[in-house]
Amino acid sequence: MQSSDIYGVQRLPRSVLFGPGQRAALPTIARSLGKRALIVTDERLRTSKELAELLEGLEHCGVASHVFSNVEPELPVRCIHDAAAAGAAFKADVVIAIGGGSCLDAAKLAALLITHGGSLADYYGEFKVPGPTLPVVAVPTTSGTGSEVTPVAVVADSDRLLKVGISSPFLIPEVAVCDPDLTMTCPPGLTALSGGDALAHAIEAFTAAPRTWTSNTAYEHVFVGKNFLSDRHALSAIGLICKYLARACRSGADIEARTAVMQGSLSAGMAFGTAGTSLAHAIQYPVGALTHTAHGLGVALLLPYAMAFNRDRILPQLSAMADVIAPHLSGQTDIARADAVIAMVADLFTEIGIPSSLADIGVAEADLPKIAEFALGTTRLVKNNPRELTPSSMLELVQAAYAGNRAILNNPQRATR
Ligand SMILES: NC(=O)c1ccc[n+]([C@@H]2O[C@H](COP(=O)([O-])OP(=O)(O)OC[C@H]3O[C@@H](n4cnc5c(N)ncnc54)[C@H](O)[C@@H]3O)[C@@H](O)[C@H]2O)c1
Ligand SMILES: [Fe+2]
Repeated sequence: MQSSDIYGVQRLPRSVLFGPGQRAALPTIARSLGKRALIVTDERLRTSKELAELLEGLEHCGVASHVFSNVEPELPVRCIHDAAAAGAAFKADVVIAIGGGSCLDAAKLAALLITHGGSLADYYGEFKVPGPTLPVVAVPTTSGTGSEVTPVAVVADSDRLLKVGISSPFLIPEVAVCDPDLTMTCPPGLTALSGGDALAHAIEAFTAAPRTWTSNTAYEHVFVGKNFLSDRHALSAIGLICKYLARACRSGADIEARTAVMQGSLSAGMAFGTAGTSLAHAIQYPVGALTHTAHGLGVALLLPYAMAFNRDRILPQLSAMADVIAPHLSGQTDIARADAVIAMVADLFTEIGIPSSLADIGVAEADLPKIAEFALGTTRLVKNNPRELTPSSMLELVQAAYAGNRAILNNPQRATR
């Protein structure tokens, strides 16, 4: 056993390309991996110039292609079975995912079903994927989910209230191509909520509970908690997103801001893809199911509350974040710097139009106990939280987020419970 500060795990695609215009490499990449490409995307891109260029490039390289463009946001299971059926009928040997997190997750899971068959429910949970899948080339068009580099995909199964995850290192795409040009069309609202999701990935990875490691940890858990490799990416993501997200929302044509936010979301994906996420994500699951609001919206709204709730367990991490995003506060106490960091995150979200309470997004007060109970049931996320969670503390947190009262969570007497 070793202490957490000298433990590291990193699982990544074989190649990650980043930069404006890098999508032009896609035909060459596809040709290196196969001869028949299934392209998984949504209606928005079906008639776009970008897709037309990709299809032309593939043809030029001698790669046959078939486009599946029926992916729906938040990803119903049906989309994945349809995409897999289309890919199998076409005899695809490589999958290209282009779109937001929903398209990337759909492609990862379609590749899984094409290769291993069965029904998606066979793979719910961790380590259920039996081996490598068809290679996936992931091309994000939002700066948010990090799915282009992560071992997880999330679906909405109509048989279950909460969305459900499939996590396996075999789901990590073979190649990620991150081209910030593709995010220039994101409207301010989408930029805000996907950027908020990315910031939550980075902060929750950076503040995840330290674990006691053994040499088997990485083979017993897909998400292994905070470690020195994930920390590097997480802190870099926090700096970039805090500095540039408001600019990207205000001025969508600002390529410098778009590029920085995409660097941030990629780095955040590299961090949480091994460390995992925690509390804000745990509560978003039932909130999203009850309000039908987007993943990124709920996660961003909840993040400052989760940070305040955990504050006294994560002072060193908040201090390290302050060094990056609030260097002018050096010399102040750890508590003052921690509160300033939490307030900066909350203020950023207010500035970009994220609602600040669960009441604002249509949560009913009567549903708070149910939300707390379901959130506590998301074991994978709850076990990653740095402060122990009990039914009563989870309910207090959810009530504070409903009322829009973050200050109540900073009562030191509560934080020691
Ligand atoms: N696998 C992971 O690691 C991971 C992590 C976090 C979230 N997720 C999942 O990802 C999904 C959310 O992904 P998302 O936030 O990227 O949104 P999304 O993929 O659900 O897309 C939302 C909407 O934005 C549109 N859109 C996408 N790119 C655009 C662009 N460049 N310009 C204009 N419109 C664009 C889409 O067409 C869609 O209508 C959820 O299902 C969530 O559960 C996955
Ligand atoms: Fe997320």
